[in-house]
Amino acid sequence: MLASNLPTQVSIFEVGARDGLQNETTVSIENKITLIEQLAAAGVNRIEAASFVSPKWVPQMADSGNILRQIKRQQGVVYSALTPNLKGLELALDAGADEVAIFGAASESFSQRNINCSIDESIARFEPVMALAKERHIKVRGYVSCVLGCPYEGEINITEVARVSEILYKMGCYEISLGDTIGVGTPLKARKMVEAVANLVPVEQLALHFHDTYGQALANIQACLETGVSVIDSSVAGLGGCPYAKGASGNLATEDLVYMLHGMGIETGIDLQKLARAGNQISQVLGRTTGSKVAQALTV
Ligand code: HMG
Ligand code: MG
Repeated sequence: MLASNLPTQVSIFEVGARDGLQNETTVSIENKITLIEQLAAAGVNRIEAASFVSPKWVPQMADSGNILRQIKRQQGVVYSALTPNLKGLELALDAGADEVAIFGAASESFSQRNINCSIDESIARFEPVMALAKERHIKVRGYVSCVLGCPYEGEINITEVARVSEILYKMGCYEISLGDTIGVGTPLKARKMVEAVANLVPVEQLALHFHDTYGQALANIQACLETGVSVIDSSVAGLGGCPYAKGASGNLATEDLVYMLHGMGIETGIDLQKLARAGNQISQVLGRTTGSKVAQALTV
């Protein structure tokens, strides 16, 4: 730790190929694979590459199995996948996912819209996922959505965020990623929320997953870094959003996060120029300018 209580290193969990591209209908499997391989070449060593959800609900992710089978894997890189239920886990294992993630919510309405069941029902569905993952020695990450607000319910009580986080942690998730799904949080609220969760789940096991809809993500992350959190989810070029949270924009752009962290003397192991090139290329495929301010400023 530095004198200011900031971590000296942050582990970046890249979600662009999943959280980002789950919203895009026009990206070919070749372009997805290129993105994932370029991210690994830029030094990103945790990449969420796939999502084994219902193809009727999210057809954009229907090629997940082939993506995991076809990518050229780089040593030391963990390629992970979302798995909402046992069927998802079986498909992910079959395709060779290194690690998987279950995803719950701190909001009943969001849980219903996103995964078609209540919070309690989702926990019951996760039990067999955890059991099989344990048997196969596969690590499971746990997401909690709507930690700073819900598109259907508005304010969310942080006690509920802490409760759901603790349940997922006690079920065996090695890391709990706290999702500001619609990016409505502000720094002091974000920090209070993390502190409330950290009373029940060790702070070393927490990650921040902040969408940047209101442009608050970097400020929120900076406020939370002082609590001791050192894992941050982000999305190259700021890709994405959530199909069940209308108006939600992408996560914080990884390029912007890396620039800020490096500027604060915090290591990430990522080559910013290579990362920005990867982000610019996928943005070109999508026919739009990168959502990263840093990538716009850099000439790569
Ligand atoms: P359901 O309809 O309640 O499930 O969906 P079901 O068990 O009744 O099954 C219905 C059909 O789906 C059956 O097929 C199943 O076989 C099939 P049919 O008999 O009708 O032909 N099915 C599956 N197929 C493939 N893979 C599966 C699977 N499961 C069932 N895993 C379910 C429940 C969870 C599957 C559905 O609601 C779903 O897929 N939801 C998608 C939700 C989603 O992908 N949301 C976006 C990701 S979460 C997110 O972005 C937030 C996050 O970033 C954090 C944050 O920002 O806060 C993580
Ligand atoms: Mg998300």
